[in-house]
Amino acid sequence: MARVHFRETMAQLTGVARPFGQNELIVTKTDLKGHITYANDVFIRLAGYPEDQILGAPHCLIRHPHMPHGVFRLLWETLEAGREIFAFVVNRSANGDHYWVLAHVTPSFNASGKITGYHSNRRAVDDNIRKNVIEPLYASMRNAEAKYSNPKDKAEAGISLLKTILQQKETTYDEFVFSLCK
Ligand SMILES: Cc1cc2nc3c(=O)[nH]c(=O)nc-3n(C[C@H](O)[C@H](O)[C@H](O)COP(=O)(O)O)c2cc1C
Repeated sequence: MARVHFRETMAQLTGVARPFGQNELIVTKTDLKGHITYANDVFIRLAGYPEDQILGAPHCLIRHPHMPHGVFRLLWETLEAGREIFAFVVNRSANGDHYWVLAHVTPSFNASGKITGYHSNRRAVDDNIRKNVIEPLYASMRNAEAKYSNPKDKAEAGISLLKTILQQKETTYDEFVFSLCK
């Protein structure tokens, strides 16, 4: 089967949230460039692509256009520095449905301490936190990013706004996210 190009389906959004269980874990592993090397059954079901189109695909296969660029910039900077990160993420299924997750993403190391890939475990997000905290925050980041046309500038604008908001709250990104984890 021909591989579906991940940008082709970007425009189609149904507005339908795909349900999944509170106890279900959505798992993927990637290589150093973010190409998917492993996906569990829950991921495959929610993503809605056949497994052979998921394995080897870049993780932005499931990127949702409502995600600010700044969040992914922070994710990659943190991972490449060898640290774990927790992030709220909305993902897009193949048919344009979406699902919100709280992702815990970590580097994997070999015996000599070198990063060999990355690993993400995701679980369901509390609806109130999504609606009242994360969606408004991400909407502000997207607004700040919309003033720029290239993804690098967008990411910088998004991160810069996020840092300002965190400074106003006198908190760090990690403290902020942990305060929302239930
Ligand atoms: C282990 C791992 C898991 C990831 N999980 C997701 C994910 O669930 N959704 C997503 O949109 N991007 C995820 N990413 C980030 C993507 O690699 C990519 O940076 C993001 O989709 C933004 O794509 P873009 O740079 O083309 O805008 C993950 C990256 C890694 C390393």
